[in-house]
Amino acid sequence: MENGLIVSKIKNGTVIDHIPAGRALAVLKILGIKGNEGSRVALVMNVESKKMKTKDIVKIEEREIKEKEAELITLIAPSATINIIKNYEVVGKRKIGIPDKVKGLLRCPNPSCITNNDVEAISIFTTISKNPILLRCDYCETQIGEEEVLRQILS
Ligand code: CTP
Repeated sequence: MENGLIVSKIKNGTVIDHIPAGRALAVLKILGIKGNEGSRVALVMNVESKKMKTKDIVKIEEREIKEKEAELITLIAPSATINIIKNYEVVGKRKIGIPDKVKGLLRCPNPSCITNNDVEAISIFTTISKNPILLRCDYCETQIGEEEVLRQILS
């Protein structure tokens, strides 16, 4: 979107583009950005997009996104593209896919699930549907959808 850029290009860092409109704050939450870290962050919400009707964009200077963070982002923003910027140029563009297994990132909502009762157990969910997102706990088969994933991320 060259015309009507509302924030400038960044020199070095990461641009998370094509976030479904309204989800930028959840992306910041996943990245643990509260705003008091001192790094420069730009948040663009509800702008027009060629590929989607409207989208959000998050630009973070001097930071690369870890694989686990990227996986969590896809769960709430499957359309997101992660652009790595070096010296003002896009040197990497990644469209991350929803993983087949989600390990250690989400809680099983079933209180009697082993993952909530054994300190050593790590939660594992298998993706049974990508659109809409539906995950099933490998231990107790409890299913969680997009709403629960968003709720856990935002809580
Ligand atoms: N961007 C930025 N700073 C730069 C370079 C790019 O903030 N130095 C941003 C752009 O504004 C855009 C995103 O990074 O939001 C991706 O840039 P680019 O690949 O140039 O844009 P498009 O071709 O529109 O991307 P796509 O093909 O993924 O839609």
